[in-house]
Amino acid sequence: MGRKYFLETYGCQMNYHDSERLSGLLESDGYERTDTEAQADVIVINTCSVREKAEDKLYTRLGELRELAAETGADPVIAVTGCVAQQEGERLLKRDSSIDVIVGTHALKSLPALVRTARSRRGAAVDISPYEDVSFPLGVARHSDPVRAWVTIIEGCNEYCSFCVVPYTRGHERMRPVAQILDEVRAAVETGRREVQLLGQIVNHYQAPDDPSCDFAELLTRVSHVPGIERVRFASPHPRHVTERLIAAIRDLPAVCKHLHLPVQSGSNRVLKNMRRRYTRESYLELVARLRDAVPAIALSTDIIVGFPGESDADFDLTLDLVARARYHSMFSFKYSPRPNTLAIKRLADDVTEAGKTHRIVALQDLQKRIQMAHFADMVGQTVPVLVEAISRRSVEELSGRTSGNTVINFPGDAALIGRLVPVSITGFGPNSLKGQLDIRPDGGARAH
Ligand code: 5AD
Repeated sequence: MGRKYFLETYGCQMNYHDSERLSGLLESDGYERTDTEAQADVIVINTCSVREKAEDKLYTRLGELRELAAETGADPVIAVTGCVAQQEGERLLKRDSSIDVIVGTHALKSLPALVRTARSRRGAAVDISPYEDVSFPLGVARHSDPVRAWVTIIEGCNEYCSFCVVPYTRGHERMRPVAQILDEVRAAVETGRREVQLLGQIVNHYQAPDDPSCDFAELLTRVSHVPGIERVRFASPHPRHVTERLIAAIRDLPAVCKHLHLPVQSGSNRVLKNMRRRYTRESYLELVARLRDAVPAIALSTDIIVGFPGESDADFDLTLDLVARARYHSMFSFKYSPRPNTLAIKRLADDVTEAGKTHRIVALQDLQKRIQMAHFADMVGQTVPVLVEAISRRSVEELSGRTSGNTVINFPGDAALIGRLVPVSITGFGPNSLKGQLDIRPDGGARAH
């Protein structure tokens, strides 16, 4: 019987994409995937360290795996990869001596070799070296989604926002050559993908190392012109790097989705300064106005941290005020948690109480829910293009897809439509998604959109 691997991922899209690569590497080495831990010869946990809770998930999981091993007597190789591996390195062994392999974010390619080392001797195999070349040969990644492909354009980050661990876990910013990116997009189309999602910490800081004329706006142009590409998305841009050229690209390129994730983090200039975000609430709101002016239908989403060190009630009220003005289609909100190595943990006391953070996040989510419901209500009656992604999670008779603005929409339809862009009229909504009906002409064809 062939050897099996079990792989679990926490965190952002980058991590999920890294896991696709890790899967590819292990499969090239003869392993087959299993969804049952107890059957696995190798268990890989690809970790996230962006907040303390994410990091704690690893330790909880390792505890569960120890219990499972005690019950079944199995002795799989346990590999911890990704951001916590990079951050903690050999220190992880002190917390849990059952770990066999530790692979940092730069060294993913060495996973199969380290697994082999671990199998053949006692003691852990560790690689957290900061390699410069983190690119992957074409075709290694196992795309986990039949419709959408993730394509990395930048690794690492040089922003050093004071709360953020990423520059320490993913290293400094490295741009991928545009030629490689386009090869990967073309390969994705050839294997049936219709949407690409360009990934990087600060995607809109992109500058091709192999072509001085190719900035992020130009990259969007080239990617969206690859034949067969229906949709292009990207995550995440930084507000301070949004250029007029980028706004024009979103406006003018039909394949580029009319959605921008624009993390604001706080609505208070004092807090923004301490976060080292390098924009103000005024310049941010002015950017929102310019975006809506150029692309009236654009959907905006954001990330917000509540309870950053020194955040007063007045600061938080400014965040609520900004959210009311920006009218986001969706929001991710987080309670501040101090992270290792960051400027904030070194210089600023985590002085907002847990109860204070909870109170603020509840108020913020409450406001956002009302704004989101108003957006959904406005959309009822419209017919919009939807890329069909899957059978709906709610019912096998329903399909699920997304609008250009990135809202999930469920509607009755045949699974043969998966991967197609179809017109759907919006008939209603739930708390987190829209409901609709396929807008098909009497002759059975889809109405033009
Ligand atoms: N505490 C809480 N939230 C954080 N984020 C990043 N670092 C922290 C932290 N230390 C949030 C930010 C970021 C998102 C991915 O995670 O809002 O945009």
